[in-house]
Amino acid sequence: MFEIAPSILSADFARLGEEIGAVKAGGARLLHVDVMDGHFVPNITLGFPVIASIRRATNLKIDAHLMIDEPSRYATKFVEAGADMVSVHVEADAHLQRTLVSIREAGGRSGAAINPATPLVALEEALPFADYVVLMSVNPGFGGQRFIETSIDKLRRLRRMIDERNLPTRIEIDGGAGLENIKEIVEAGANIVVAGSSVFGAGRPTEAVKELIEKGTIWV
Ligand code: DX5
Ligand code: ZN
Repeated sequence: MFEIAPSILSADFARLGEEIGAVKAGGARLLHVDVMDGHFVPNITLGFPVIASIRRATNLKIDAHLMIDEPSRYATKFVEAGADMVSVHVEADAHLQRTLVSIREAGGRSGAAINPATPLVALEEALPFADYVVLMSVNPGFGGQRFIETSIDKLRRLRRMIDERNLPTRIEIDGGAGLENIKEIVEAGANIVVAGSSVFGAGRPTEAVKELIEKGTIWV
């Protein structure tokens, strides 16, 4: 079983409520919300008021992906604003364990996000404190980038690392996922697949989510 998490970064923000309704109709249960600060990544997106508005507009689970410096200053505030899941980058936090625990204590699911060039050992010790890992398959900052192929091997290694230790940690893959690679991604061990441009890019988000779920489902 896997989940599609549509990323609203590629949605039409002037019609956000409608776009959210459309992905829900397609079978999505999560909504991936990219928070960028213009420092950790070369782009700026949104913050607390938008999360709070989305919270009021939908019962989909909100998965906030913080691409910001000093995430420990803000992580629990995102839970308070309405996020169900909050991920912080291992590259941005010298006290990752403490931040992950604080997200859990605030009532959220804790996520550790890792960039393509950061080795998995950087999050090894934090795994027991993470409800999920966000494995970046593009360098964060923008939607619509090409999937970095070596991410499949990294995903398999992460899957093994988690399974060998009998941990319940989920794996979310983020960046460049679409109909052409979703099956391979799910087979390599992803539980959650973020999809931005492949869901919102063609103006038919309901159908796009349905097709991704259909294509990624491993029939046994
Ligand atoms: C990239 C973001 C992703 C992005 C994915 O910095 O973290 O969540 O929205 O978009 P696609 O699916 O278009 O690569
Ligand atoms: Zn993201």
